[in-house]
Amino acid sequence: MPSLPHSDELIFFVNGRKVIERNADPEVNLLFYVRKRHILLFYCTKYSCGGGGCGACTVMVSRYNSTTKAIHHYPATACLVPICSLYGAAVTTVEGVGSIKTRIHPVQERLAKCHGTQCGFCSPGMVMSIYTLLRNHPEPAPEQITKALGVERNLCHCTGYRPIVESGKTFCESTVCELKGSGKCCMDQEDGSLVNRWEKMCTKLYDEDEFQPLDPSQEPIFPPELIRMAEDPNKRRLTFQGERTTWITPATLNDLLELKANFPKAPLVMGNTELGPSIKFKNEFHPVFISPLGLPELHFVNTTDDAQLNDALHFIVSEQPKEKTKTYRALLKHLRTLAGAQIRNMAPAPSFHHTSHLSLIPLNGPFLERSPEADLKSEEIVSSVYIPYSTQWHFVFGLRMAQRQENAFAIVNAGMSVKFEDGTNTIKKLQMFYGSVGPTTVSASQTCKQLIGRQWDDQMLSDACRWVLDEIYIPPAAEGGMVEYRRTLIISLLFKFYLKVRRGLNQMDPQKFPDIPEKFMSALEDFPIETPQGIQMFQCVDPHQPPQDPVGHPVMHQSAIKHTTGEAVYIDDMPCIDQELFLAPITSTRAHAKIISIDISEALALPGVVDVITAEDVPGDNNYQGEIFYAQNEVICVGQIVGTVAADTYAHAREAAKKVKIAYEDIEPRIITIEQALKHNSFLFDEKKIEQGNVEQAFKYVDQIIEGEVHVEGQEHFYMETSSILALPKEEDKEMVLHLGTQYPTRVQEYVAAALNVPRNRIACRMKRTGGAFGGKVAKPAVLGAVSAVAANKTGRPIRFILERGDDMLITAGRHPLLGKYKIGFMNNGVIKAADVEYYVNGGCTPDESEMVVEFIVLKSENAYYIPNFRCRGRACKTNLPSNTAFRGFGFPQGTVVVEAYITAVASQCNLPPEEVKEINMYKRISKTAFKQTFNPEPLRRCWKECLEKSSFYTRKLAAEEFNKKNYWKKRGLAIVPMKFCIGIPTAYYNQAATLVHIYLDGSVLVTHGGCELGQGLYTKMIQVRSVSGLSSGFSLLCPAPNACQTLMARLHPIIRKNPKGKWEDWIAKAFEKSISLSATGYFKGYQTNMDWEKGEGNAYPYYVYGAACSEVEVNCLTGAHKLLRTDIFMDAAFSINPALDIGQVEGAFIQGMGFYTIEELKYSPEGVLYSRSPDDYKIPTVTEIPEEFYVTLVRSQNPIGLGEAGMFLGSSVLFAIYDAVAAARRERGLAKTFVLSSPATPEMIRMTCVDQFTDMIPRDDPSTFTPWSIRVS
Ligand SMILES: Cc1cc2nc3c(=O)[nH]c(=O)nc-3n(C[C@H](O)[C@H](O)[C@H](O)COP(=O)(O)OP(=O)(O)OC[C@H]3O[C@@H](n4cnc5c(N)ncnc54)[C@H](O)[C@@H]3O)c2cc1C
Ligand code: FES
Ligand code: FES
Repeated sequence: MPSLPHSDELIFFVNGRKVIERNADPEVNLLFYVRKRHILLFYCTKYSCGGGGCGACTVMVSRYNSTTKAIHHYPATACLVPICSLYGAAVTTVEGVGSIKTRIHPVQERLAKCHGTQCGFCSPGMVMSIYTLLRNHPEPAPEQITKALGVERNLCHCTGYRPIVESGKTFCESTVCELKGSGKCCMDQEDGSLVNRWEKMCTKLYDEDEFQPLDPSQEPIFPPELIRMAEDPNKRRLTFQGERTTWITPATLNDLLELKANFPKAPLVMGNTELGPSIKFKNEFHPVFISPLGLPELHFVNTTDDAQLNDALHFIVSEQPKEKTKTYRALLKHLRTLAGAQIRNMAPAPSFHHTSHLSLIPLNGPFLERSPEADLKSEEIVSSVYIPYSTQWHFVFGLRMAQRQENAFAIVNAGMSVKFEDGTNTIKKLQMFYGSVGPTTVSASQTCKQLIGRQWDDQMLSDACRWVLDEIYIPPAAEGGMVEYRRTLIISLLFKFYLKVRRGLNQMDPQKFPDIPEKFMSALEDFPIETPQGIQMFQCVDPHQPPQDPVGHPVMHQSAIKHTTGEAVYIDDMPCIDQELFLAPITSTRAHAKIISIDISEALALPGVVDVITAEDVPGDNNYQGEIFYAQNEVICVGQIVGTVAADTYAHAREAAKKVKIAYEDIEPRIITIEQALKHNSFLFDEKKIEQGNVEQAFKYVDQIIEGEVHVEGQEHFYMETSSILALPKEEDKEMVLHLGTQYPTRVQEYVAAALNVPRNRIACRMKRTGGAFGGKVAKPAVLGAVSAVAANKTGRPIRFILERGDDMLITAGRHPLLGKYKIGFMNNGVIKAADVEYYVNGGCTPDESEMVVEFIVLKSENAYYIPNFRCRGRACKTNLPSNTAFRGFGFPQGTVVVEAYITAVASQCNLPPEEVKEINMYKRISKTAFKQTFNPEPLRRCWKECLEKSSFYTRKLAAEEFNKKNYWKKRGLAIVPMKFCIGIPTAYYNQAATLVHIYLDGSVLVTHGGCELGQGLYTKMIQVRSVSGLSSGFSLLCPAPNACQTLMARLHPIIRKNPKGKWEDWIAKAFEKSISLSATGYFKGYQTNMDWEKGEGNAYPYYVYGAACSEVEVNCLTGAHKLLRTDIFMDAAFSINPALDIGQVEGAFIQGMGFYTIEELKYSPEGVLYSRSPDDYKIPTVTEIPEEFYVTLVRSQNPIGLGEAGMFLGSSVLFAIYDAVAAARRERGLAKTFVLSSPATPEMIRMTCVDQFTDMIPRDDPSTFTPWSIRVS
């Protein structure tokens, strides 16, 4: 491509390699550039969200500062870094850190060996965050590791973070558990403990002695050429001309002002963390960008040299007396919670010095409220920010509440400052600013004015609360929703400010100003961020086991090193294919409407666009088994694929997709919620029901009956690798090969063949690994595969269909929201005699897996409890939402919330502790389930008992009660949940499996099987089992077709017998010489399960997995925040083939469950539009949410395995611990003891359930008078 006019050369370094880009395009970001541009092709840095929100694309950017002569290294999210901003920078991607081809870096090695990777998609980002920390601090403190990963927003949805943090902590001087690594456990000190009595337990999951040492002197040097460039005194303006936009980097401050005068509308690009997402997601377009990033004047802090804002503030705080730096400290506290470090580092420090020659704009109400006369003029820039020192009788605080403590936009935040007349508590000046209560920051100026001269006392507070609520009004339908909660927070934060100031006054003059009541102290501080710690215990291998037998050992994931170096190849990492086209979806914007017309003319006219594909282009079935590939005539949900655009680049395809015009005519009814579906009798399938005993009769003889409803909202899979497909049409016989990440390749093949109207044998599906799935890649890839295949068929060219995060969240849907209605009859001693339970799930618009989800809910819903008269019914509602699908646990995590909720309600009615009622009603001996399958609950009771004892449940419960007596605004709660989880599928033929085993002539073995590697370590376990001497030992535990191995061993047996001391390779060579077949197939017919739904009975499941979890939380009643203090899990793991992988599954599932039950919240408009489409508005747990103390024990039993699904439900121990804490608050406030706490227990739910004077004060709106911004769909 010829050089565009007026374009300078862009010079920077990537991994020590000089890049001279003559056609630098301002619209191209670093991630795209390093991954896709043919010169670099560094595919190891991953794309996951594209908006700076997940950390998967973290790289290290290093710059030389010519003033300080220092090199600064900082992490940055490559997806938000425009390449044009990199002039003079050195970029290190994960390839530059280490590689299997050259040398693995200690960070990569330890992350892999500590089992900190499962699917591996987040791993390169994790490596880069830890690596950058180590470049700056070679011996970090454990808190710095937590901060580097959690606060800096590196998301992982597989591991639960504990092993990732642990790998980082191996670089710190001290480790958490003194006995860690020794094979002994600090939990296991008492002789004769139950665990010791059963079997010898181990805690060592990796061997630190294997780790290479970290040698900072081996790191690559900063390119000297960049130092020379930075020191060049003759800097000149740089211009980069792209396809549509121009980027200008001014040389001096004056140059910048001149540019701003010439291009007043051009934005200044600093970190690009606000601008970048606006351009990408909100369709903003700017023809010119001005980037003053390199200007020293904008990086200068008068008391320090060049520094990031954070460092500068820290420096000032450490240098100056406390009294002077209250504002600085408030800012620092606030900054810690703002985005991740990768984002904060990209936004530089505005300079902190007076600008006497320029205009001064006070940072007051009118400015913050963006009043036009106080705002910047378009030709002006902010050159500096002056932060005055605070004084003695002056208090400044920043307050905030968010869905997640760190890394989440505030639900409400506030900056408040009060100055008193010296030596008094008389208000001289008061300022209160609130954020997230309207479109701009809002000043409560009238309230502040009215309070001048008042004493800082309770009466003032009471007036202030009333007035501020009058002054700051959030309308009932306000964007962002949570209106009553936000109103409550306005005054809750004010109350917190009031208490903090009273405390401050008391510290100034204790005689004059009494301290706040002891019980109120807990309102003052947010929860601290602690470095998580804990122990993982598992059964040691038999000491007589041969050393070469790896079964039972915590072997590292087979691909772990490739994950951490980034070299594990995912779909979009596969190199470009000649002639390939990129696909972008065109999705419906209406929930239920007739398609009147589709106008593609404008889209087709755009550059690079090859075709627009619609339902008319489907040669075969467009509606297969009720799943629609391309909408035809009507749309049935927002997000349904109406068409796709195929173009030469993804950017072109996406632009064109936006230009397709679809005219709709709404159709009634539009059904979004379960309630609406029930009203319209809208269901996907017939009811599923099981029943035992005589429920009606039993209700007549019980002491008490309660009835209730529980709502459980849905969940997004949030796998880190979005749905990705590469469809390659072949020249001959209508063959097609699809590379994709799926849990069900057979279904993809079936759907693609149906869509193309070809026999299935023409369609090959290749699945090597996928970057997380959690059920989301069971059914949806079949539909998306068909969509891509139709495009490939029509264009005759390879199709790359990589869904953007927002499209993935919109189109593929997730866990079924559920409504549970119960009627429970019980005796006053807590014994439940009868239960009549109805479940309704929101299935969405097509069948997908909803029928099976309902079956699973109904069959598993008794959980661990025996209720002699039990009726359970379930139905999937048909609504106009994207079709919900399989998700880890398959309905069990939702259904059992209802069970635990009614058990807890029974306990409350009987004035008994919930754990006692659980134990009373728990299965005790070999029994039959409600669907009449016999099982032995002995492992369940063992897990339960162990969990109670080892977690010191009763002692800690007493301690929590003591804590609660002393604290009014923070409450602690504990809960323990038992689990009986059925593994397998009631339909027998789904349980079958086949294997093909080849032994090659060099002795290497290839096992081809139907299992899909999603991060759970399937291949690793297979290799472990296969490598056992004699190939067959232990194979039956895992391999779906043990007979393949047995067959091969039987064939080899005569040869081995003749040469027993020979090597494997010799035996194989001999076998070949003797023409013995070295290939065998194995087939496992499957467990012979069955379920007769007519009778409501059967042997539905092959086996059960048991467990118990206990969690303790602390709840902030004033804000709704909570902190998970400790979790203990006891999980029946049968004989664990690989305890590291199994513990990883348990921990990962638990944290995913915890997120589901607490902070993960999908928001829908009343019209059925999903708002939550990015990590910014859908919060999965980060490292700061995991338990401060986390103990996991694998208990041995006779069962087979299956931990990854089951562990999810154990996260509900957090939900019920929150319930317990909220109940304590309500008891103290004299409120009704039974209350509804649905799932998720979000901060909003917690705050509004802890009713108090503030929740009572806020204005309430009549629901019939407005349409809310968002609605609950369960
Ligand atoms: C994942 C993520 C999380 C985030 N979380 C938070 C959060 O928790 N809280 C929060 O408040 N924000 C958050 N943000 C938003 C963003 O990081 C901040 O608003 C940040 O301060 C923007 O700084 P920047 O340098 O990147 O701005 P840019 O995107 O470079 O610029 C933003 C705007 O500021 C203007 N501008 C820049 N410099 C000047 C100047 N010197 N004079 C005049 N105008 C100027 C530009 O013209 C542009 O319009 C988040 C962003 C991301 C991507
Ligand atoms: S892909 Fe860049 S932060 Fe998510
Ligand atoms: S291993 Fe972290 S997202 Fe899969």
